[in-house]
Amino acid sequence: MMQHLTVVDHPLVQHKLSILRQKDVSTAGFRRLLREISLLLAYEVTRELELTTMRIQTPMCEMDAPTLEGKKLALISILRAGNGLMDGILELIPGARVGFVGLYRDPETLKPVEYYYKVPRELDARMTIVVDPMLATGNSSVAAIDMLKERGAVNMRFLCLLAAPEGVDRMREAHPDVPIFTAALDERLDDHGYIVPGLGDAGDRMFGTK
Ligand code: URA
Repeated sequence: MMQHLTVVDHPLVQHKLSILRQKDVSTAGFRRLLREISLLLAYEVTRELELTTMRIQTPMCEMDAPTLEGKKLALISILRAGNGLMDGILELIPGARVGFVGLYRDPETLKPVEYYYKVPRELDARMTIVVDPMLATGNSSVAAIDMLKERGAVNMRFLCLLAAPEGVDRMREAHPDVPIFTAALDERLDDHGYIVPGLGDAGDRMFGTK
């Protein structure tokens, strides 16, 4: 059984994350760093992909060489900030299938409501990696994973940049079978659901909307 939470403590990830967190980093700088970090996170989150072998011919001889087995993996972005994590991952795994889940919070019930859903077929046969940079309350992540499980996903991972303890606990309760990968486990949430120390609003920072 894999551990439920993996903090990717590689020095390059940690160094880049410290630059990215700083409030005066430009939109371009934020995006570049996010792409670089997501590439490194993708390397860790795919560690358990299954391998088989294929017969190849090197200039010297034939050999049975390792190659990925099974269907292409599915990357699912939780809109909109998930898209910023996706770019680096797709650079590393260009053949991945890609899906999107859009959720908003109903102002009365405060429950997440789906406004967009388009994901690859045959999720039951793919490793399915859900990406959202900020695991804060965990409400949208839990809801997105609920939907994906309803549509057949079984072999799932959740990838974020920063996690709050509250979000990790919520995910552990709701989806103990979905391992979380993050670059850092921060201290707490503030009263508005922002991660502290965090990096502010990830969507605004990557898309320059503030
Ligand atoms: N979403 C963000 O963009 N930032 C947070 O700190 C929490 C949720």
